[in-house]
Amino acid sequence: MLASSSSSAERPSCRVEFVADGIVRDVPFGTLLQDLVRDLEVSLLFGCRRGTCGTCLVRVEGETSPATRLEQETVLILGAEPGDRLACRLVVIGDLKISPASST
Ligand code: FES
Repeated sequence: MLASSSSSAERPSCRVEFVADGIVRDVPFGTLLQDLVRDLEVSLLFGCRRGTCGTCLVRVEGETSPATRLEQETVLILGAEPGDRLACRLVVIGDLKISPASST
C-alpha cells in the first residue's frame, strides 16, 4: 500500500544570503529571519525584536512576507527606501539577499 506523506520535511527550502558577511544558508520555508540569525555570526543587529525601534533595518531583495501595519509605520518613520524591511519581522518565503539598508 502506498502512503502519501505530508511531513514538513517536504516543504521547500529557501536560500538566504547575507551579502555583507558572505554567508549563505538554505532554510525551510517559513523560517523567521531573526531565528536564523540567532545561530549565525552576521553583522545584523536587533533591538526590540518587535518592529518598533528600527535597529534591524535591512535592504532585502527577493520574495518576502508582507509587511505588517506596524512594520509599515516604523519603516515610514525611519524614512527608509523601497525594499528596506525590518529583519525582525521577516518570514522567509523565498530566496533572499539581505544587505545593510542605505539609511543605516
Ligand atoms: S529589532 Fe527593533 S524593529 Fe527590528
